[in-house]
Amino acid sequence: MPGLYETLMNAIPELTAFDLRPLTGSLGADIVGINLLTASDEEIAQVQTALDHCHVLAIRDQNLDPAGFHKVARRFGPFSGNMIHRPLEGFEDIVRFTRNPEDRGPVVGEDFHMDLAWMEIPPGITMLYGEEIPPVGGDTLFASLSAAYEGLSDTMRNLILNLIGVHSGKGVFAINASNTALSVKASGQAVEEIETEHPLVCRHPVTGRPYLYLSGVLQRFVGMTEEESKPIIDFLISHALRGEYTCRLRWEPRTLTMWANPYLMHAAINDYHGHRRVVLRSTVAGSPPIAAGAGDQENGSTTFRKGNFRKSRSRE
Ligand code: SIN
Repeated sequence: MPGLYETLMNAIPELTAFDLRPLTGSLGADIVGINLLTASDEEIAQVQTALDHCHVLAIRDQNLDPAGFHKVARRFGPFSGNMIHRPLEGFEDIVRFTRNPEDRGPVVGEDFHMDLAWMEIPPGITMLYGEEIPPVGGDTLFASLSAAYEGLSDTMRNLILNLIGVHSGKGVFAINASNTALSVKASGQAVEEIETEHPLVCRHPVTGRPYLYLSGVLQRFVGMTEEESKPIIDFLISHALRGEYTCRLRWEPRTLTMWANPYLMHAAINDYHGHRRVVLRSTVAGSPPIAAGAGDQENGSTTFRKGNFRKSRSRE
C-alpha cells in the first residue's frame, strides 16, 4: 500500500521546473531551484500544481524587496483584500509583521487558525516572505485538514457530512489591535459583527480531495447550540492537530512560504525572544468552498473520487 504522500506524489504531473522535497508524510515541501520573479508562466503553473497537492511550499533563496514580493504574489492571482491590517505604504496588498528582540507577549498567529475563515470567500493562498529570520526558532506549524478528514472513521464522516459551520469574526479585530507588531485599520472593527456559514466537509476545487473546513473561529453548527457543537468542534480540532497530519516549517532568510489557506490550519511558534523576525505577507483570492457531498451522494453513502485528480486549472 503506498503511503498518503506517495499517493499525492504519484498524482502530481511531472514537475520539471524545480526540485521538490517533501517535508512529511502528510503535507508540505521544500522547493529549490526556481526564481519566482523570472520563472515562466508554465513554471509558475507547476508551482501552483505542487501547492494544490502539498498545501505548503517553502520556496528557498528568493531575493525580494516589497515590489518584487508584490510581483510574485500577483503571479498567483488577484489580492484577496484585507479588512483588518494597515498595508505597507505603496502596496495595498502587503503587510509587514515585525517582532523585535525586546517584544514580549503573543506573536501574530500563535494559535492554530485558518486565515480569514469568516470571509465568504477566504483567501486561497497566503504568502509570507522572510526578510529577517532568527538564527533558531520562529518556525511555523501546519496541519492538513485533508489528512485529518481521511483519518476519520466512515461512521464519523457520515455523521458530520451535512454540518454547516458558523465562523465568527468576533474578537478578531480586538486581538489584532492588541498586538504591537501590527497596525490595524479603524474600519476593521466591522469584522467583529461578521458571521459566515461554510459546509464542514468540503472538497478541493482542483484535486477533488475532501477536507474539513475548520478554523479557530468556528463557533457552532447551524441548527445546533454552541453547547451541542463544542464537543464535535473540540474533537475535530484536536484530531486535526495529531502529529501525523502536521509539518513544521523551518525558515531561512529569503524563504517565500505559500500555503493553500483553506485546506490547513497553521500556527506561528513563539520561541525566539531576543531575536528579530520580519516577514512580508500577502494573500491571493480564493474560490467559494464547495460542499463535499454536493452531487457525490450514492445510495446514501458518499464517494469523493479519491485518487481521481483532475489536471484542469479551472476553479469551479
Ligand atoms: C500567520 O499566522 O499568518 C503568521 C505565521 C508566521 O508568522 O509564521
